Amino acid sequence: MLNLVLFGPPGAGKGTQADYLIKKFKLKHLSTGELLRDQIAAHTELGQEAKSYMDQGFLVPDSIVIEMIRSELQENKAVNGYVFDGFPRTVEQAIALDELMIINGTEVAAMLLLSVEKEELISRLLGRGKTSGRADDQGTAIIENRILEYDVKTRPIKDYYAAQNKFHRIRGMGTVEEIAQRLIETVSAL
Ligand code: AP5
Ligand code: MG
Repeated sequence: MLNLVLFGPPGAGKGTQADYLIKKFKLKHLSTGELLRDQIAAHTELGQEAKSYMDQGFLVPDSIVIEMIRSELQENKAVNGYVFDGFPRTVEQAIALDELMIINGTEVAAMLLLSVEKEELISRLLGRGKTSGRADDQGTAIIENRILEYDVKTRPIKDYYAAQNKFHRIRGMGTVEEIAQRLIETVSAL
């Protein structure tokens, strides 16, 4: 199996690039952000709880997202591998993912960090906010909070993967196609 962690701050292009990776390597896309938005749209209890955090740009509790990923892995066993998008986001989640991979007889092959300048992140998300309907894309203050959450709680995970020799930094500036090419070259060389 080929399991990739697609990593980076809000607006780095994780969702956009996941589409290229799943097509090229025939993988299953697992985005915790999308799964949570599905729960909100379905008006579930989990969705209601998650919404209170997401709308303000805070991470939702680890227990919620870890359980969601555990159940997705159980339901999607016959795959070539996964692209994890927006997960893990804390060291707790990274440890839990390693444990889940072991249970499934596999492991994370690489963590791919899309590195993008802050001004570009804000401009992409404000641009998307005009049409996305996402509450967390509305306004600079909430976007800044998402980036702060990333800097404080999520960015440190890079050391966790570097210690396992799985950390790769990919320049996330340029056209979508150029970045996809960089990612595909990196993954092909694993
Ligand atoms: P999530 O849905 O994961 O959002 P995010 O990480 O904040 O990032 P985005 O999805 O907004 O950006 P992206 O990197 O996918 O970029 P995209 O391709 O869309 O999480 C949302 C919330 O859910 C979190 O804040 C948290 O509350 C909660 N959550 C989710 N997972 C969690 C977890 N594991 N633990 C705890 N809480 C969790 O691109 C962005 C825009 O830029 C698009 O408009 C796109 O068209 C454009 N774009 C992309 N590439 C380029 C390019 N090269 N040039 C110009 N524009 C580009
Ligand atoms: Mg996304």
